[in-house]
Amino acid sequence: MEGPQSARKHIPVLATESIAQLQIRSDSVCIDCTLGEGGHSRLILEQLGPNGRLIAIDRDAEARASATAYLREVKTEASWEVVAGTFGKLAEICRERDIVAADVIFADIGISSRQVDEAERGFSYLQDGPLDMRMNRSGTNADERTAETLVNELGERELADIIRRYGEERYAASIARRIVTERRQKRIRGTLQLLEIIRSAVPAAECRKGNPARRTFQALRIAVNRELQELEDLLDAVPELLADRGRCGIISYHSLEDRLIKQRMRAWQKPCTCPSDFPVCVCGLLPLGKVVSGSGIEPSAAEVKRNPRARSARLRVFERIVGDA
Ligand SMILES: C[S@@+](CC[C@H](N)C(=O)[O-])C[C@H]1O[C@@H](n2cnc3c(N)ncnc32)[C@H](O)[C@@H]1O
Repeated sequence: MEGPQSARKHIPVLATESIAQLQIRSDSVCIDCTLGEGGHSRLILEQLGPNGRLIAIDRDAEARASATAYLREVKTEASWEVVAGTFGKLAEICRERDIVAADVIFADIGISSRQVDEAERGFSYLQDGPLDMRMNRSGTNADERTAETLVNELGERELADIIRRYGEERYAASIARRIVTERRQKRIRGTLQLLEIIRSAVPAAECRKGNPARRTFQALRIAVNRELQELEDLLDAVPELLADRGRCGIISYHSLEDRLIKQRMRAWQKPCTCPSDFPVCVCGLLPLGKVVSGSGIEPSAAEVKRNPRARSARLRVFERIVGDA
């Protein structure tokens, strides 16, 4: 028999740091854009009183079901709702709920441990499974394009481009070439089948440095789930939605995402486009607030030891200030 949800071993990444940085009040309106296993949402909910509100979004039906049960265990008078959707549609999700300003917008982007660990989701190159990689794979709104579709149907150049751009893989061209050669013989359906193809396309010395499929799998996952576009859309929505003194905290796990977040937060802090030798600003673009996390907050050595998957995490936080930032 399964024990209570709280008995599950789930460690949210940068948990203490996130809660400290988000400055949640008991009456805050909070949005967790990536509910996942409910780790951060639960910590947020525990801070809220009767006038507080939590909206927790995830595109993965299994995550929503499991996290809902986990959140139900919290004794709270705050209102909370689990929403099926993507955070790229945050403005719409808020509009539908008459939320004009949120005090906290939080996201812990990427995939969850559950998604990686379940072989049939196809995210892992360590276990055999179908090349799926969709976060949203059930119900009538399920995404249609899987990793199998991309690997078997894209042209060689487009495939190489995805692997290079989203995986920062230097052997992208030769991996794409080998994929195209192999798929002429036999459709590529499985994770380990793809791993072997990648292995045969990169120099042996590269395979000794670590799993040669890591970057290609990351690239395919990002492409299947349109992850960078989702992040761009979220970042477009944040300034309008964040309340005065509200905070936006985003945890990311690779440099592509972190770079986007860093650049946007810096631009919100210093939007002025005037040349540096202009004596006064003429563009009229005023700061929207300030970055409060310096160069980003990383997990402690103790956290990485406890949870090695946290090792590449970086939290960046922005505070909206209406008026003189
Ligand atoms: C790293 S996990 C979040 C873990 C969560 N913070 C916790 O402590 O349990 C990321 C979650 O975000 C979801 N996700 C990723 N991109 C999304 C998007 N664009 N819209 C909605 N959910 C998304 C994934 O399905 C996954 O469940």
